[in-house]
Amino acid sequence: MKLKDKVTVITGGNSGIGLATAQEFKAQGARVVIFGRNQKTLDQAAQTIGKGTLAIRGDVTNLSDLGLLYKQTVERFSKIDILVVNAGISKPRTIEHIDEMIFDQISNINFKGAFFTVQRAIPYLNDGASILLVTGSVYEKGVPGYSVVSATKAAVRSLARTFAAELLPRGIRVNALSPGSIETPIFEKLGLPVEPEKWAEQIPMKRIGRAEEMAKAALFLASDDSSYMTGAELVIDGGKAQI
Ligand SMILES: NC(=O)c1ccc[n+]([C@@H]2O[C@H](COP(=O)([O-])OP(=O)(O)OC[C@H]3O[C@@H](n4cnc5c(N)ncnc54)[C@H](OP(=O)(O)O)[C@@H]3O)[C@@H](O)[C@H]2O)c1
Repeated sequence: MKLKDKVTVITGGNSGIGLATAQEFKAQGARVVIFGRNQKTLDQAAQTIGKGTLAIRGDVTNLSDLGLLYKQTVERFSKIDILVVNAGISKPRTIEHIDEMIFDQISNINFKGAFFTVQRAIPYLNDGASILLVTGSVYEKGVPGYSVVSATKAAVRSLARTFAAELLPRGIRVNALSPGSIETPIFEKLGLPVEPEKWAEQIPMKRIGRAEEMAKAALFLASDDSSYMTGAELVIDGGKAQI
């Protein structure tokens, strides 16, 4: 019970890494709030996570939705102890195939959404809270098709450093969690076939990661186990960025 009674908000807690994190945190005693746009998957996820889970529908690009998320959270529970800024999308396209609409959509969700998810939470965070920003190891190399996605994740990595510095006086720790290739619904949403064997070839550990493995790393960052860590990034990628 590493997170007993810790009030936790997870954006994108209705799918993939966010859902696995919500399940792990709940099992560790947290009071969980999930946020996403899809009512059906929100309802299903709330059932899966278990009794007492609060599911709130909204879009991270909409600042009044974020305001509502935090208002409803503190009304139901109390101030927030853990914030997992996880909502994000991936739309790989090489440079000539990126139009302004796609550029804005990726930037607005991954970067602007992450910024305002944290900014709007500030009045509702307890001193000593822990914030996790989900980045992605793709930004560490030049991967064809990922110019905009990678740039937004590099921007979020940068936010983790600045937020960590700005929130240090309140004892709030801010760290980034960087997934490599993790099997989640993100691939189906892209219309890409999920071919773990194909992805696995490019990974030193010869397999893609599981959402549960991300959840364990999220637990480390959210809990006191990482009490001397802020502004840092934990990379969970089967060794891809290092070997
Ligand atoms: N899986 C990987 O290999 C991988 C690699 C690197 C980084 N990541 C990052 O990990 C995070 C989670 O990804 P995942 O793989 O778990 O993907 P996923 O299963 O597609 O989950 C993404 C979540 O984000 C939510 N979301 C997307 N846009 C949103 C918006 N505008 N407002 C509110 N919620 C929104 C989605 O819910 P709704 O659809 O209901 O809005 C969904 O719950 C993302 O930030 C992603 O970029 C994943």
